[in-house]
Amino acid sequence: MTGRAANPGSPGAVEGLTGTTALVTGASRGFGRAIATALSGVGAHVVGVARDQARLDDLRDELGDTFTPVVAEATDPDTAARLIGEHRPHTLVLNAGAAPLLRPLHHQTWETFSRNWEVDVQQVFHWVREALLRPLLPGSTVITMSSGAAINGSPLSGGYAGAKATIGFMTSYAAAESKREGLGITFASVLPKLTPATELGASGVAAYAERQGVDLGSFLEALGSTLTREQVGTSVVDLAAGHHLHQDTYLLTPTGLAPLG
Ligand SMILES: NC(=O)c1ccc[n+]([C@@H]2O[C@H](COP(=O)([O-])OP(=O)(O)OC[C@H]3O[C@@H](n4cnc5c(N)ncnc54)[C@H](OP(=O)(O)O)[C@@H]3O)[C@@H](O)[C@H]2O)c1
Repeated sequence: MTGRAANPGSPGAVEGLTGTTALVTGASRGFGRAIATALSGVGAHVVGVARDQARLDDLRDELGDTFTPVVAEATDPDTAARLIGEHRPHTLVLNAGAAPLLRPLHHQTWETFSRNWEVDVQQVFHWVREALLRPLLPGSTVITMSSGAAINGSPLSGGYAGAKATIGFMTSYAAAESKREGLGITFASVLPKLTPATELGASGVAAYAERQGVDLGSFLEALGSTLTREQVGTSVVDLAAGHHLHQDTYLLTPTGLAPLG
């Protein structure tokens, strides 16, 4: 097992995913858009789910017929059932996530504290449940987006870190159920390091810099090298192609994927 990501354009990856269907939630921007682009780049047909029609249409213009935009709420159980039934994805990437309210604990309300439970965790619950119950075809892969915050905590993000840790647990539980029932579905969670490369990450970086009383440049220098959206896209393709799948939890840093535990 190596911590390095293989080239997603390599023949193995392309052979494995060409002509298959992938479904990506949160495809309208950030990591999800990069993941959809990378999957489309290796020949998968990508169904992209998000609420912002204009941004999905823009991605459709960029990727052409290999991309099907679906404007929908990723936390809706009926949407999960309908889209899994219609598309039977070979690769399912549960990436959609709410931007946490960036305030210390005592300046949160219960509603803001629980935002990532209502969106991120609820989404993973409905889609993973559907993937197991339907079930997806043997050989399918389900990838969930957790966060490095699941290990390190995120004191300015309310319940974000706990929600992301729960997504990691849920993914491991699903992997065990798949094995137990002989379904042949692989489940893996990815824990990316904080990066300013997306709207969510940029807000987080700005809030932590302000909290520490340093300017953005100094904060980023201390943070070290940061992930690009493209690295996230190629790493998810790599997992979907089965190159790393000997474990169900992976840290993702600028040096690539590394199995956790
Ligand atoms: N950026 C980081 O540093 C970082 C680090 C670790 C983990 N993550 C995780 O990576 C994932 C992607 O984050 P990002 O940084 O790319 O954030 P982002 O730029 O804010 O994108 C979030 C995506 O999720 C979609 N989304 C949010 N709520 C949704 C809902 N209820 N239904 C459908 N789609 C929804 C958004 O689309 P619409 O608004 O169009 O619906 C958007 O496409 C998240 O789960 C995040 O927690 C990010």
